[in-house]
Amino acid sequence: MKRRLVVVSNRLPVAISRTGGKWRIQPGTGGLVTALEPLMNANHGIWIGWPGCGPEAPVDELIEGFSAEHGYELKAVPLDEQEVEKYYRGFSNEALWPLFHDLLGHCIFNLDHFRSYDAVNRRFAEIAAEYSTSKDILWIHDYQLILTGRHIRQLHPSHMLAFFLHIPFPPPDLLRRLPWCEQLIEGLLAYDLAGFQTLRDHRNFVHCATTLGRGVEVRSRHRHHTILGYDGHTIKVGHYPISIDSADFAARASSDEVADAAWYLHENYQHRQLILGVDRLDYTKGIPERFLAFERALEKYPEMHEKISLVQVVVPSRTMVPDYVDLKGKLEQLAGRINGRFSQHGWVPLHYHYRNLDPVQLLAHYRTAEIALVTPLRDGMNLVAKEYCASSVDNQGVLILSKFAGAADQLGKHALLVNPYDIEKTADAIHQAFCMPKAEQKRRMALLRAQIRRNDVHHWLDNFLQEFGSRRRGGAL
Ligand code: UDP
Ligand code: G6P
Repeated sequence: MKRRLVVVSNRLPVAISRTGGKWRIQPGTGGLVTALEPLMNANHGIWIGWPGCGPEAPVDELIEGFSAEHGYELKAVPLDEQEVEKYYRGFSNEALWPLFHDLLGHCIFNLDHFRSYDAVNRRFAEIAAEYSTSKDILWIHDYQLILTGRHIRQLHPSHMLAFFLHIPFPPPDLLRRLPWCEQLIEGLLAYDLAGFQTLRDHRNFVHCATTLGRGVEVRSRHRHHTILGYDGHTIKVGHYPISIDSADFAARASSDEVADAAWYLHENYQHRQLILGVDRLDYTKGIPERFLAFERALEKYPEMHEKISLVQVVVPSRTMVPDYVDLKGKLEQLAGRINGRFSQHGWVPLHYHYRNLDPVQLLAHYRTAEIALVTPLRDGMNLVAKEYCASSVDNQGVLILSKFAGAADQLGKHALLVNPYDIEKTADAIHQAFCMPKAEQKRRMALLRAQIRRNDVHHWLDNFLQEFGSRRRGGAL
Protein backbone atom coordinates (compact mmCIF):
# COMPACT_ATOMS: atom_id res chain seq x y z
CA MET A 1 0.00 0.00 0.00
CA LYS A 2 1.23 3.47 -0.85
CA ARG A 3 2.13 5.41 2.28
CA ARG A 4 0.70 8.84 2.85
CA LEU A 5 3.11 11.75 2.66
CA VAL A 6 2.97 14.19 5.56
CA VAL A 7 5.12 17.19 4.71
CA VAL A 8 6.06 19.70 7.38
CA SER A 9 7.65 22.98 6.34
CA ASN A 10 7.79 26.43 7.85
CA ARG A 11 5.45 27.90 5.28
CA LEU A 12 2.39 26.38 3.63
CA PRO A 13 2.68 26.48 -0.16
CA VAL A 14 0.42 29.51 -0.32
CA ALA A 15 0.49 33.29 -0.17
CA ILE A 16 -2.52 34.87 1.55
CA SER A 17 -3.20 38.54 0.89
CA ARG A 18 -6.01 41.12 0.98
CA THR A 19 -6.69 43.47 -1.91
CA GLY A 20 -9.60 45.88 -1.92
CA GLY A 21 -11.04 44.28 1.22
CA LYS A 22 -11.09 40.81 -0.40
CA TRP A 23 -8.91 37.92 0.83
CA ARG A 24 -6.99 35.94 -1.78
CA ILE A 25 -5.03 32.71 -1.59
CA GLN A 26 -2.46 31.95 -4.29
CA PRO A 27 0.38 29.46 -4.72
CA GLY A 28 3.54 30.53 -2.87
CA THR A 29 7.00 31.18 -4.33
CA GLY A 30 10.41 29.57 -3.77
CA GLY A 31 12.22 26.38 -4.71
CA LEU A 32 10.73 24.32 -1.90
CA VAL A 33 7.16 24.93 -3.07
CA THR A 34 7.99 24.39 -6.75
CA ALA A 35 9.54 21.01 -6.03
CA LEU A 36 7.01 19.61 -3.57
CA GLU A 37 3.72 20.93 -4.91
CA PRO A 38 3.42 18.51 -7.88
CA LEU A 39 4.28 15.58 -5.61
CA MET A 40 1.66 16.46 -3.02
CA ASN A 41 -0.86 16.89 -5.74
CA ALA A 42 -0.24 13.34 -6.96
CA ASN A 43 -0.04 11.86 -3.45
CA HIS A 44 -3.10 13.41 -1.73
CA GLY A 45 -0.96 13.97 1.35
CA ILE A 46 -1.04 16.53 4.14
CA TRP A 47 1.08 19.67 4.24
CA ILE A 48 1.58 21.28 7.64
CA GLY A 49 2.96 24.82 7.90
CA TRP A 50 2.54 28.47 8.75
CA PRO A 51 -0.01 30.29 6.57
CA GLY A 52 2.20 33.40 6.61
CA CYS A 53 -0.53 35.83 7.69
CA GLY A 54 -1.93 37.36 10.87
CA PRO A 55 -5.01 36.28 12.91
CA GLU A 56 -7.33 38.63 11.01
CA ALA A 57 -7.28 36.38 7.90
CA PRO A 58 -9.99 33.69 7.54
CA VAL A 59 -7.26 31.04 7.19
CA ASP A 60 -9.36 27.89 7.64
CA GLU A 61 -11.85 28.91 5.03
CA LEU A 62 -9.14 29.96 2.56
CA ILE A 63 -7.05 26.83 2.93
CA GLU A 64 -10.10 24.59 2.69
CA GLY A 65 -10.86 26.05 -0.73
CA PHE A 66 -7.22 25.65 -1.78
CA SER A 67 -7.13 22.02 -0.53
CA ALA A 68 -10.24 21.11 -2.50
CA GLU A 69 -8.77 22.56 -5.66
CA HIS A 70 -5.27 21.13 -5.27
CA GLY A 71 -6.07 17.61 -4.07
CA TYR A 72 -4.20 17.55 -0.75
CA GLU A 73 -4.88 18.78 2.76
CA LEU A 74 -3.33 21.81 4.42
CA LYS A 75 -3.02 22.24 8.20
CA ALA A 76 -2.12 25.67 9.48
CA VAL A 77 0.36 26.33 12.28
CA PRO A 78 -0.41 29.90 13.36
CA LEU A 79 2.45 32.05 14.65
CA ASP A 80 2.01 35.15 16.78
CA GLU A 81 3.90 38.38 16.16
CA GLN A 82 6.65 37.60 18.68
CA GLU A 83 7.24 34.20 17.09
CA VAL A 84 7.40 35.67 13.62
CA GLU A 85 9.91 38.19 14.92
CA LYS A 86 12.13 35.77 16.85
CA TYR A 87 11.75 32.34 15.28
CA TYR A 88 11.16 33.27 11.62
CA ARG A 89 12.77 36.63 11.07
CA GLY A 90 15.38 36.33 13.84
CA PHE A 91 16.82 32.86 14.19
CA SER A 92 15.78 31.34 10.85
CA ASN A 93 16.54 34.29 8.60
CA GLU A 94 19.12 36.36 10.46
CA ALA A 95 21.17 33.49 11.89
CA LEU A 96 20.77 30.18 10.03
CA TRP A 97 20.09 31.52 6.52
CA PRO A 98 23.21 33.71 6.26
CA LEU A 99 25.41 31.29 8.22
CA PHE A 100 24.51 28.30 6.04
CA HIS A 101 25.07 30.45 2.93
CA ASP A 102 28.56 31.36 4.08
CA LEU A 103 27.67 35.04 4.58
CA LEU A 104 28.68 35.54 8.21
CA GLY A 105 28.54 39.33 7.89
CA HIS A 106 24.72 39.14 7.77
CA CYS A 107 24.44 36.95 10.91
CA ILE A 108 22.80 38.04 14.15
CA PHE A 109 23.01 35.46 16.97
CA ASN A 110 20.55 36.02 19.81
CA LEU A 111 19.70 33.55 22.60
CA ASP A 112 16.12 34.72 22.87
CA HIS A 113 15.65 34.05 19.14
CA PHE A 114 17.12 30.57 19.53
CA ARG A 115 14.74 29.78 22.42
CA SER A 116 11.79 30.89 20.34
CA TYR A 117 13.07 28.72 17.43
CA ASP A 118 13.17 25.69 19.70
CA ALA A 119 9.70 26.41 21.12
CA VAL A 120 8.14 26.91 17.69
CA ASN A 121 9.84 23.75 16.40
CA ARG A 122 8.18 21.94 19.31
CA ARG A 123 4.77 23.31 18.32
CA PHE A 124 5.25 22.12 14.74
CA ALA A 125 6.19 18.71 16.20
CA GLU A 126 3.02 18.53 18.31
CA ILE A 127 0.82 19.37 15.35
CA ALA A 128 2.69 16.94 13.07
CA ALA A 129 2.31 14.21 15.72
CA GLU A 130 -1.41 14.93 15.98
CA TYR A 131 -2.05 14.62 12.24
CA SER A 132 0.20 11.65 11.42
CA THR A 133 0.43 7.96 12.28
CA SER A 134 3.42 5.63 12.31
CA LYS A 135 2.31 4.37 8.87
CA ASP A 136 2.89 7.76 7.25
CA ILE A 137 6.04 9.15 5.76
CA LEU A 138 6.72 12.10 8.00
CA TRP A 139 8.99 14.45 6.15
CA ILE A 140 10.32 17.64 7.69
CA HIS A 141 11.79 20.32 5.42
CA ASP A 142 14.45 22.95 5.65
CA TYR A 143 16.47 25.04 8.06
CA GLN A 144 13.51 26.59 9.90
CA LEU A 145 12.55 23.19 11.36
CA ILE A 146 15.78 21.34 12.12
CA LEU A 147 14.76 20.64 15.74
CA THR A 148 11.22 19.47 14.92
CA GLY A 149 12.30 15.83 14.48
CA ARG A 150 13.85 15.63 17.94
CA HIS A 151 10.61 16.90 19.48
CA ILE A 152 8.49 14.44 17.48
CA ARG A 153 10.84 11.69 18.59
CA GLN A 154 10.08 12.55 22.23
CA LEU A 155 6.36 12.30 21.55
CA HIS A 156 6.46 9.25 19.25
CA PRO A 157 9.71 7.29 19.59
CA SER A 158 8.81 4.84 16.83
CA HIS A 159 7.79 7.26 14.06
CA MET A 160 10.07 7.10 11.03
CA LEU A 161 11.32 10.61 10.38
CA ALA A 162 12.98 12.08 7.34
CA PHE A 163 14.51 15.51 6.88
CA PHE A 164 15.61 17.38 3.80
CA LEU A 165 17.70 20.54 3.82
CA HIS A 166 17.02 22.76 0.81
CA ILE A 167 19.92 25.13 1.48
CA PRO A 168 23.66 24.43 1.75
CA PHE A 169 25.11 22.83 4.89
CA PRO A 170 28.25 24.60 6.17
CA PRO A 171 31.63 23.09 7.04
CA PRO A 172 32.63 22.80 10.75
CA ASP A 173 34.72 26.00 10.74
CA LEU A 174 31.63 27.97 9.85
CA LEU A 175 29.01 26.09 11.86
CA ARG A 176 31.01 26.31 15.09
CA ARG A 177 30.54 30.11 15.14
CA LEU A 178 26.91 29.45 16.08
CA PRO A 179 26.66 29.24 19.88
CA TRP A 180 24.00 26.48 19.61
CA CYS A 181 25.64 24.39 16.92
CA GLU A 182 25.66 21.24 19.08
CA GLN A 183 21.90 21.40 19.56
CA LEU A 184 21.43 21.69 15.81
CA ILE A 185 23.62 18.66 15.17
CA GLU A 186 21.78 16.64 17.81
CA GLY A 187 18.53 17.77 16.20
CA LEU A 188 19.63 16.41 12.82
CA LEU A 189 20.81 13.17 14.38
CA ALA A 190 17.26 12.51 15.64
CA TYR A 191 16.05 11.75 12.09
CA ASP A 192 16.24 8.33 10.47
CA LEU A 193 17.21 9.86 7.15
CA ALA A 194 18.82 13.27 6.68
CA GLY A 195 19.02 14.41 3.06
CA PHE A 196 21.15 17.20 1.59
CA GLN A 197 21.36 18.75 -1.86
CA THR A 198 24.97 17.95 -2.84
CA LEU A 199 27.84 15.67 -1.94
CA ARG A 200 29.60 18.65 -0.45
CA ASP A 201 26.67 19.38 1.93
CA HIS A 202 26.45 15.69 2.83
CA ARG A 203 30.17 15.59 3.62
CA ASN A 204 30.02 18.85 5.55
CA PHE A 205 27.29 17.44 7.78
CA VAL A 206 29.17 14.20 8.45
CA HIS A 207 32.27 16.24 9.22
CA CYS A 208 30.34 18.56 11.58
CA ALA A 209 28.60 15.64 13.30
CA THR A 210 31.84 13.79 13.94
CA THR A 211 33.89 16.82 15.00
CA LEU A 212 31.36 19.06 16.76
CA GLY A 213 28.83 16.45 17.96
CA ARG A 214 29.44 14.14 20.91
CA GLY A 215 29.53 10.34 20.61
CA VAL A 216 28.89 10.19 16.85
CA GLU A 217 30.60 7.44 14.88
CA VAL A 218 30.75 6.66 11.19
CA ARG A 219 29.48 3.08 10.77
CA SER A 220 29.93 2.87 7.02
CA ARG A 221 30.51 5.02 3.97
CA HIS A 222 28.92 4.40 0.58
CA ARG A 223 28.92 6.25 -2.73
CA HIS A 224 25.70 8.15 -2.09
CA HIS A 225 25.21 7.81 1.65
CA THR A 226 26.90 7.47 5.02
CA ILE A 227 25.60 5.58 8.05
CA LEU A 228 26.20 7.30 11.36
CA GLY A 229 25.71 5.75 14.79
CA TYR A 230 24.50 7.95 17.63
CA ASP A 231 22.79 7.36 20.96
CA GLY A 232 21.95 3.71 20.23
CA HIS A 233 20.50 4.18 16.75
CA THR A 234 21.69 4.70 13.19
CA ILE A 235 21.09 7.64 10.86
CA LYS A 236 21.39 7.51 7.12
CA VAL A 237 22.84 10.67 5.58
CA GLY A 238 22.76 11.20 1.83
CA HIS A 239 22.63 13.71 -1.01
CA TYR A 240 19.63 13.99 -3.30
CA PRO A 241 19.74 17.01 -5.64
CA ILE A 242 16.24 18.43 -5.84
CA SER A 243 14.68 19.17 -9.20
CA ILE A 244 11.59 20.22 -11.11
CA ASP A 245 8.81 18.51 -13.02
CA SER A 246 10.74 18.86 -16.26
CA ALA A 247 8.09 17.35 -18.57
CA ASP A 248 5.46 19.65 -17.14
CA PHE A 249 7.64 22.74 -17.72
CA ALA A 250 8.39 21.64 -21.27
CA ALA A 251 4.72 20.94 -22.02
CA ARG A 252 3.52 24.24 -20.60
CA ALA A 253 6.32 26.16 -22.32
CA SER A 254 5.24 24.59 -25.65
CA SER A 255 1.63 25.77 -25.31
CA ASP A 256 0.23 28.36 -27.73
CA GLU A 257 -0.51 30.70 -24.84
CA VAL A 258 3.15 30.76 -23.79
CA ALA A 259 4.39 30.94 -27.39
CA ASP A 260 2.19 34.01 -27.97
CA ALA A 261 3.31 35.65 -24.74
CA ALA A 262 6.95 34.97 -25.68
CA TRP A 263 6.44 36.51 -29.11
CA TYR A 264 4.93 39.67 -27.57
CA LEU A 265 7.80 39.90 -25.12
CA HIS A 266 10.38 39.93 -27.88
CA GLU A 267 8.35 42.45 -29.85
CA ASN A 268 8.29 44.63 -26.76
CA TYR A 269 12.04 44.45 -26.43
CA GLN A 270 12.45 45.13 -30.15
CA HIS A 271 14.04 41.76 -30.94
CA ARG A 272 17.13 42.45 -28.88
CA GLN A 273 18.91 39.55 -27.22
CA LEU A 274 17.46 39.21 -23.74
CA ILE A 275 19.44 38.24 -20.68
CA LEU A 276 17.14 37.04 -17.94
CA GLY A 277 17.54 37.06 -14.17
CA VAL A 278 14.74 35.71 -11.91
CA ASP A 279 15.29 35.66 -8.17
CA ARG A 280 13.67 36.29 -4.83
CA LEU A 281 15.06 39.56 -3.50
CA ASP A 282 17.82 37.96 -1.45
CA TYR A 283 21.44 38.91 -0.81
CA THR A 284 22.50 35.29 -1.47
CA LYS A 285 21.41 35.62 -5.11
CA GLY A 286 24.28 37.92 -6.09
CA ILE A 287 22.06 40.45 -7.90
CA PRO A 288 24.25 43.56 -7.27
CA GLU A 289 27.32 41.63 -8.47
CA ARG A 290 25.33 40.58 -11.56
CA PHE A 291 24.41 44.20 -12.30
CA LEU A 292 28.07 45.18 -11.96
CA ALA A 293 29.10 42.41 -14.35
CA PHE A 294 26.49 43.58 -16.86
CA GLU A 295 27.73 47.15 -16.50
CA ARG A 296 31.30 45.98 -17.05
CA ALA A 297 30.25 44.00 -20.13
CA LEU A 298 28.67 47.14 -21.60
CA GLU A 299 31.86 49.09 -20.90
CA LYS A 300 34.13 46.45 -22.33
CA TYR A 301 32.07 45.31 -25.31
CA PRO A 302 30.39 48.33 -26.95
CA GLU A 303 29.30 46.12 -29.84
CA MET A 304 26.57 44.81 -27.50
CA HIS A 305 25.01 48.29 -27.09
CA GLU A 306 21.43 48.43 -28.35
CA LYS A 307 21.60 44.71 -29.15
CA ILE A 308 21.08 43.32 -25.68
CA SER A 309 18.94 44.04 -22.59
CA LEU A 310 19.01 42.55 -19.13
CA VAL A 311 15.54 41.79 -17.76
CA GLN A 312 15.80 41.26 -14.01
CA VAL A 313 12.70 40.02 -12.19
CA VAL A 314 13.01 40.35 -8.43
CA VAL A 315 10.30 38.69 -6.35
CA PRO A 316 9.57 40.47 -3.04
CA SER A 317 10.78 38.35 -0.11
CA ARG A 318 11.29 38.68 3.69
CA THR A 319 10.45 42.35 3.56
CA MET A 320 10.63 42.67 7.36
CA VAL A 321 14.34 41.75 7.50
CA PRO A 322 16.43 44.97 7.38
CA ASP A 323 19.19 43.49 5.16
CA TYR A 324 16.55 42.71 2.53
CA VAL A 325 15.17 46.25 2.65
CA ASP A 326 18.71 47.64 2.23
CA LEU A 327 19.30 45.37 -0.74
CA LYS A 328 16.19 46.68 -2.48
CA GLY A 329 17.50 50.25 -2.20
CA LYS A 330 20.91 49.18 -3.48
CA LEU A 331 19.46 47.44 -6.54
CA GLU A 332 17.30 50.41 -7.47
CA GLN A 333 20.31 52.68 -7.21
CA LEU A 334 22.52 50.42 -9.33
CA ALA A 335 19.83 49.94 -11.98
CA GLY A 336 19.38 53.72 -12.15
CA ARG A 337 23.11 54.25 -12.52
CA ILE A 338 23.52 51.68 -15.31
CA ASN A 339 20.54 52.99 -17.26
CA GLY A 340 21.73 56.55 -16.69
CA ARG A 341 25.16 55.68 -18.12
CA PHE A 342 24.20 53.60 -21.13
CA SER A 343 20.58 54.23 -22.23
CA GLN A 344 20.12 55.62 -25.71
CA HIS A 345 17.08 56.78 -27.57
CA GLY A 346 14.94 53.66 -27.95
CA TRP A 347 17.18 51.37 -25.83
CA VAL A 348 17.04 50.74 -22.11
CA PRO A 349 19.81 48.29 -21.14
CA LEU A 350 18.38 47.11 -17.81
CA HIS A 351 14.71 46.41 -17.11
CA TYR A 352 14.20 45.90 -13.40
CA HIS A 353 10.85 44.46 -12.23
CA TYR A 354 10.13 44.16 -8.53
CA ARG A 355 7.16 41.77 -8.56
CA ASN A 356 5.91 38.22 -9.06
CA LEU A 357 5.33 36.92 -12.56
CA ASP A 358 2.27 34.81 -13.28
CA PRO A 359 3.11 31.30 -14.56
CA VAL A 360 2.48 32.10 -18.24
CA GLN A 361 4.68 35.21 -18.11
CA LEU A 362 7.42 33.34 -16.25
CA LEU A 363 7.45 30.58 -18.87
CA ALA A 364 7.36 33.10 -21.70
CA HIS A 365 10.42 34.83 -20.23
CA TYR A 366 12.22 31.49 -19.89
CA ARG A 367 11.29 30.36 -23.38
CA THR A 368 12.30 33.52 -25.12
CA ALA A 369 15.41 34.76 -23.27
CA GLU A 370 18.62 34.10 -25.20
CA ILE A 371 20.69 34.03 -22.02
CA ALA A 372 19.88 33.20 -18.38
CA LEU A 373 22.14 34.79 -15.79
CA VAL A 374 21.93 32.67 -12.64
CA THR A 375 24.72 33.90 -10.41
CA PRO A 376 24.02 33.32 -6.70
CA LEU A 377 26.88 33.85 -4.25
CA ARG A 378 25.73 30.58 -2.73
CA ASP A 379 22.59 28.51 -3.31
CA GLY A 380 21.39 25.10 -2.13
CA MET A 381 20.32 24.13 -5.66
CA ASN A 382 18.65 26.93 -7.70
CA LEU A 383 15.62 25.73 -9.59
CA VAL A 384 15.42 28.78 -11.84
CA ALA A 385 18.46 27.40 -13.71
CA LYS A 386 16.68 24.09 -14.29
CA GLU A 387 13.37 25.73 -15.19
CA TYR A 388 15.07 27.93 -17.79
CA CYS A 389 16.56 24.92 -19.55
CA ALA A 390 13.42 22.77 -19.30
CA SER A 391 11.40 25.62 -20.83
CA SER A 392 13.88 26.29 -23.67
CA VAL A 393 11.88 23.97 -25.88
CA ASP A 394 13.57 25.21 -29.06
CA ASN A 395 16.91 24.00 -27.63
CA GLN A 396 18.24 27.52 -27.79
CA GLY A 397 19.65 29.77 -25.11
CA VAL A 398 22.75 29.88 -22.97
CA LEU A 399 22.85 29.27 -19.23
CA ILE A 400 25.44 31.28 -17.30
CA LEU A 401 25.62 29.63 -13.89
CA SER A 402 27.42 30.34 -10.64
CA LYS A 403 29.92 27.74 -9.45
CA PHE A 404 28.44 28.17 -6.01
CA ALA A 405 24.90 27.03 -6.87
CA GLY A 406 24.16 23.38 -6.02
CA ALA A 407 22.88 23.05 -9.62
CA ALA A 408 26.46 23.50 -10.89
CA ASP A 409 27.26 19.89 -9.90
CA GLN A 410 24.77 18.64 -12.47
CA LEU A 411 24.71 21.44 -15.06
CA GLY A 412 28.24 22.82 -14.82
CA LYS A 413 29.61 20.84 -17.74
CA HIS A 414 27.36 22.41 -20.38
CA ALA A 415 26.62 25.82 -18.86
CA LEU A 416 29.07 28.73 -18.78
CA LEU A 417 30.30 28.49 -15.19
CA VAL A 418 31.30 31.68 -13.39
CA ASN A 419 32.50 32.88 -10.02
CA PRO A 420 29.92 35.63 -9.28
CA TYR A 421 32.46 37.57 -7.24
CA ASP A 422 34.65 37.82 -10.36
CA ILE A 423 32.98 40.75 -12.14
CA GLU A 424 35.49 40.81 -15.00
CA LYS A 425 35.10 37.14 -15.96
CA THR A 426 31.33 37.22 -15.53
CA ALA A 427 31.27 40.17 -17.95
CA ASP A 428 33.34 38.06 -20.38
CA ALA A 429 30.89 35.16 -19.99
CA ILE A 430 28.01 37.51 -20.92
CA HIS A 431 29.92 38.47 -24.06
CA GLN A 432 30.74 34.84 -24.84
CA ALA A 433 27.05 33.93 -24.52
CA PHE A 434 26.10 36.91 -26.71
CA CYS A 435 28.45 35.68 -29.45
CA MET A 436 27.83 31.95 -29.11
CA PRO A 437 26.93 30.34 -32.48
CA LYS A 438 23.43 28.86 -32.62
CA ALA A 439 24.80 25.35 -33.27
CA GLU A 440 26.84 25.42 -30.06
CA GLN A 441 23.89 26.80 -28.11
CA LYS A 442 21.74 23.94 -29.36
CA ARG A 443 24.32 21.31 -28.53
CA ARG A 444 24.80 22.58 -25.00
CA MET A 445 21.11 23.17 -24.35
CA ALA A 446 20.12 19.70 -25.60
CA LEU A 447 22.61 18.16 -23.15
CA LEU A 448 21.41 20.35 -20.27
CA ARG A 449 17.79 19.47 -20.98
CA ALA A 450 18.54 15.75 -21.18
CA GLN A 451 20.30 15.93 -17.79
CA ILE A 452 17.32 17.68 -16.21
CA ARG A 453 14.84 15.26 -17.80
CA ARG A 454 16.71 12.26 -16.42
CA ASN A 455 16.97 13.79 -12.96
CA ASP A 456 13.57 15.35 -12.51
CA VAL A 457 11.63 15.84 -9.28
CA HIS A 458 9.95 12.43 -9.59
CA HIS A 459 13.36 10.79 -9.75
CA TRP A 460 14.37 12.84 -6.69
CA LEU A 461 11.29 11.69 -4.75
CA ASP A 462 11.69 8.04 -5.77
CA ASN A 463 15.32 8.09 -4.71
CA PHE A 464 14.60 9.71 -1.41
CA LEU A 465 11.65 7.45 -0.58
CA GLN A 466 13.56 4.37 -1.60
CA GLU A 467 16.26 5.28 0.89
CA PHE A 468 13.60 5.97 3.47
CA GLY A 469 11.84 2.67 2.78
CA SER A 470 15.08 0.78 3.37
CA ARG A 471 15.34 2.11 6.94
CA ARG A 472 14.02 0.47 10.07
CA ARG A 473 13.73 2.69 13.09
CA GLY A 474 16.69 2.28 15.39
CA GLY A 475 18.05 -0.72 13.52
CA ALA A 476 21.30 -1.41 11.82
CA LEU A 477 20.84 -1.60 8.06
N1 UDP B 1 9.12 31.84 -8.99
C1 UDP B 1 7.78 32.09 -8.81
N2 UDP B 1 7.27 33.30 -9.20
C2 UDP B 1 8.03 34.27 -9.76
C3 UDP B 1 9.40 34.01 -9.93
C4 UDP B 1 9.91 32.78 -9.54
O1 UDP B 1 7.06 31.23 -8.31
O2 UDP B 1 7.53 35.34 -10.07
C5 UDP B 1 9.65 30.52 -8.58
C6 UDP B 1 10.55 29.92 -9.63
O3 UDP B 1 9.76 29.36 -10.65
C7 UDP B 1 11.34 28.91 -8.81
C8 UDP B 1 11.34 29.49 -7.41
O4 UDP B 1 10.47 30.62 -7.43
O5 UDP B 1 10.69 27.65 -8.78
C9 UDP B 1 12.72 29.93 -6.96
O6 UDP B 1 13.43 28.78 -6.60
P1 UDP B 1 15.02 28.74 -6.51
O7 UDP B 1 15.41 27.35 -6.15
O8 UDP B 1 15.63 29.25 -7.75
O9 UDP B 1 15.39 29.77 -5.33
P2 UDP B 1 14.78 30.00 -3.86
O10 UDP B 1 13.78 31.10 -4.02
O11 UDP B 1 14.20 28.71 -3.41
O12 UDP B 1 15.95 30.45 -3.04
C1 G6P C 1 13.93 29.27 0.11
C2 G6P C 1 13.92 28.41 1.36
C3 G6P C 1 12.49 28.00 1.69
C4 G6P C 1 11.61 29.24 1.78
C5 G6P C 1 11.70 30.06 0.50
C6 G6P C 1 10.90 31.38 0.58
O1 G6P C 1 13.51 28.51 -0.95
O2 G6P C 1 14.75 27.27 1.19
O3 G6P C 1 12.44 27.29 2.91
O4 G6P C 1 10.26 28.88 2.01
O5 G6P C 1 13.06 30.39 0.26
O6 G6P C 1 11.25 32.11 1.72
P1 G6P C 1 10.20 32.55 2.82
O7 G6P C 1 11.02 33.09 3.96
O8 G6P C 1 9.36 33.59 2.17
O9 G6P C 1 9.39 31.36 3.20
